[in-house]
Amino acid sequence: MIDKIVFATGNEGKMREVRLILEDISLPVLSMKEAGIEAEIEENGKTFEENAAIKAKAVQKLSGGLVLADDSGLEIDYLNGEPGIYSARYMGEDTSYRVKNQNLIDRLAGVKDEDRTARFVCAIAAAFPNGEVLTTRGTIEGRIGYEEKGTNGFGYDPIFYLPEYGCSTAELEPSEKNSISHRGRALRLMRELLKERGL
Ligand code: IMP
Repeated sequence: MIDKIVFATGNEGKMREVRLILEDISLPVLSMKEAGIEAEIEENGKTFEENAAIKAKAVQKLSGGLVLADDSGLEIDYLNGEPGIYSARYMGEDTSYRVKNQNLIDRLAGVKDEDRTARFVCAIAAAFPNGEVLTTRGTIEGRIGYEEKGTNGFGYDPIFYLPEYGCSTAELEPSEKNSISHRGRALRLMRELLKERGL
């Protein structure tokens, strides 16, 4: 009997988003902290899905129940998909996003609009007590801007420009971003898979 869902993150912002989207699943959704779990997990997978599954399985062993985990990042086509699964570690985990964002803008100097395509990717993995693992993926397509814009969001949001909205994801209201974001999409797909399994 599955009696709870643990989401493998220490990030409260992510937890708020996750709780909102999983609202109509009839199980309590706990953060690792709320579940009393501490874990340093090495993300040594080669894809977003592998990394999400590594985290979900590791935490599942410690917590029991159903465990969800995510892995996300920014893929820039002109840079052959960089920073990709290394998005958080790009230029060092402790380097500010002002510096990381400026570096990416500089690496795209002289690159024309149509070649600045990029996407945010998010994989969600669900690890069940019986060892089964499910994954979903959500993406949002955009272009790398010419300067940082906006103060909402986090990470690479200020340089991620959405042509059809005429602004960066850092200029969207949080609820608006959630409704179109890679993480929102991947989570809603996972919610449907869980519902199909009667949860
Ligand atoms: P994760 O927490 O290991 O999935 O790290 C993903 C990294 O990708 C973050 O630290 C950000 O740098 C970047 N990233 C993922 N999603 C977003 C987003 O929605 N906006 C901006 N940056 C993001």
